[in-house]
Amino acid sequence: MKKLVRVLGTLVVLGIVALLAFIFVPVQRTGPVTQLASDFKPATGQGEYVMRAGDCLACHTNEGGKPFAGGRAIQSPMGTIWTTNITPDKETGIGNWSLDDFRAALYDGVTPNGTHLYPAMPYENYRKLSEEDIVALYDYFMHQVEPVSNKVEETRLGFPFNMRFGLRAWNWLAASYEAGFKPTTGQDEQFNRGKYLVEGAGHCAACHSPRNLFMAQDGIDETSKAFLTGGEIDGYTAPDLRGPASGPQKWTTEQTAAYLATARNAHSAATGEMMLVVRDSTQYLTREDNLAIATYLKKIGTAPAGNASAALATPVVTETEKMLTDAKADMPLGPRLYLDNCAACHIVSGKGAGETFPELDGNSLVTAKSSKGLISVILHGAELPSTADRPMKLRMQGYDKRLSDEEVAALATFLREGWTNKAPAVSAADVKAVRDLAQH
Ligand code: HEC
Ligand code: HEC
Ligand code: HEC
Repeated sequence: MKKLVRVLGTLVVLGIVALLAFIFVPVQRTGPVTQLASDFKPATGQGEYVMRAGDCLACHTNEGGKPFAGGRAIQSPMGTIWTTNITPDKETGIGNWSLDDFRAALYDGVTPNGTHLYPAMPYENYRKLSEEDIVALYDYFMHQVEPVSNKVEETRLGFPFNMRFGLRAWNWLAASYEAGFKPTTGQDEQFNRGKYLVEGAGHCAACHSPRNLFMAQDGIDETSKAFLTGGEIDGYTAPDLRGPASGPQKWTTEQTAAYLATARNAHSAATGEMMLVVRDSTQYLTREDNLAIATYLKKIGTAPAGNASAALATPVVTETEKMLTDAKADMPLGPRLYLDNCAACHIVSGKGAGETFPELDGNSLVTAKSSKGLISVILHGAELPSTADRPMKLRMQGYDKRLSDEEVAALATFLREGWTNKAPAVSAADVKAVRDLAQH
């Protein structure tokens, strides 16, 4: 209810500002932030690399469809938004677009005829791309992508979201910072390379930052307290990346880089949306770039100095481990199910095994605010993609046929409270909701 009032209030304000904007100001397109030499030519492969870093392929390709031909449905709270055809086809794609048109879509979220794009296209972040990278991307789309004739479904949201001009006001409030990348002074090149990738092309904040009152990403860089402190995507938690208990702060930079390159490291494994990010984007980045991202994330950690190692110190043998090892006959349902079904791989200490079976003690998915991700993994299993560094798929089977809603709830609650974990219990109704989602 509070959320509804907030959204309605926001809409009224947006409506008024939009009306004024619509009446008085022509659409502004941002020009190049730096003047490149007239004979500038992007390095071979640069455009494709920026495309990977920006993950354009994932959103702009439909399941089973041709690369970049669009037509993928993106579910938003306002309704379904269809991605567009960005192949160089002249009728149905962007074959007639100039470099200025292309830049305006990435920087300002507007198309050549002045139509505003919905922020499901992450121009809030792409606004940081350098002119070199924009030119390289443009060159890639015009000359290396195969033109595909494919007319995609038109996005039709309900009132008032179908009035795209309202987005102009939203842009003023949400994406009005100066375009181009501003390195942080006093930090070295590696930090700033990581910063560029995270804040710009990688659009990590689109999932990992909370949303502000206007439903925009809260903060555009590390100077904002909320930036990358955790967000929500489709009801699933995208965890905090800055707090003392978060992966990038607990892990070494090598381990974070390994997670980005292979979807796994000695502690954790990527599931769901993040598995897709690794599969389609970060596994293609160079080792140096993934290390730069990890270093940047480490340095923007919010743990008070000196506290980080205290948060890291875990008890040698937890009560949970003792209980599982003793395995008394009167052991409650949750731990019993764990011993019977899970301990063979994830071990009684909850520490898993190396890079193969992820740690469940201190795991951000297990303790996430929303239990949806954990329930979903227990019901449907999870699969790690095959990546260049790890050319082998690894699968955990699902338990949806074997365990009832009550049993999954007891097991998930045990995991969320076991070892050093402290997260709220899970109910059978929570489990049923996730089970029902998969049914249609
Ligand atoms: C998270 C999903 C997502 C990613 C990643 C993404 N896009 Fe988009 N893009 C969209 C959606 C959705 C639209 C349509 C928005 C609308 O209809 O308002 C769009 C629209 C566009 C358009 C406008 C096309 C037209 O005909 O109107 C261009 C150009 C574009 N994207 C280029 C890119 C490039 C280049 C990248 C990578 C750097 C990229 N997109 C990455 C979701 C995405
Ligand atoms: C489309 C949404 C999305 C995008 C974009 C995204 N992430 Fe994630 N990320 C997630 C989700 C969801 C998880 C939780 C996955 C899990 O627990 O298995 C996650 C997990 C992580 C983790 C593990 C954290 C932990 O404590 O276990 C790291 C590190 C991470 N992401 C880094 C990044 C970086 C760096 C980027 C940008 C290059 C990025 N993510 C972009 C959704 C996203
Ligand atoms: C045969 C070995 C095996 C068994 C048995 C097993 N798992 Fe897994 N589990 C894995 C592997 C491998 C992964 C990594 C796959 C992935 O995350 O994509 C995984 C991933 C997970 C994750 C996600 C961790 C992360 O970092 O994202 C959770 C949670 C989990 N398992 C819980 C369980 C529970 C609860 C059970 C018992 C009901 C169980 N597992 C049984 C092998 C196993």
